[in-house]
Amino acid sequence: MADRYEQLKAECEKCEKCGLCKTRTNLVFGVGVTDAEVMFVGEGPGENEDLQGEPFVGRGGQLLDKFLAAVDLDRKKNIYIANMVKCRPPQNRDPKPEEQEACIGWLREQTRIIKPKIIVCLGRISAQKLISADFRVTQQHGQFIEKGGILFMGTFHPAALLRDPNRKPDALEDFLALRDKINEICDHTY
Ligand code: URA
Repeated sequence: MADRYEQLKAECEKCEKCGLCKTRTNLVFGVGVTDAEVMFVGEGPGENEDLQGEPFVGRGGQLLDKFLAAVDLDRKKNIYIANMVKCRPPQNRDPKPEEQEACIGWLREQTRIIKPKIIVCLGRISAQKLISADFRVTQQHGQFIEKGGILFMGTFHPAALLRDPNRKPDALEDFLALRDKINEICDHTY
């Protein structure tokens, strides 16, 4: 399992399926445990992530880690975090649909290896790609939707919470609902 994961990451390092590989510093493949029952999917690396090669390490990432800690989740212990695109879009623009399409095969392979029971989409970009094209985070956050044997849930992107802290109580409710769902369907008790 770990071998297959490392092999996939090494293949992804060489990917040139879209132009983002030309302007990135580091590939941001993902972080966490490779047999996690819960996986988080963001949008794409920002400047700090590009420099460090790890998802969610800037201010948004620190906020995400606090929400995770509130429900006993930890990127080093029991979850996996990835993004829709593995290379930083210039000037932190949204990844284009064709870039997401070019990159999604890597995420599919990661999901096949990790086999999460729950995938949490952080923000509109991943929720619209992975849950439904018309997903509205403000209206549908916190709802669990089954697709192909995996439960998906969309919640606010940490950057959106930094911009609008009034949304933090709603986000906390989503994380508490996630904890309840983990206790209901996951094997590990955290
Ligand atoms: N925003 C994202 O969506 N992903 C990251 O890794 C960092 C910021």
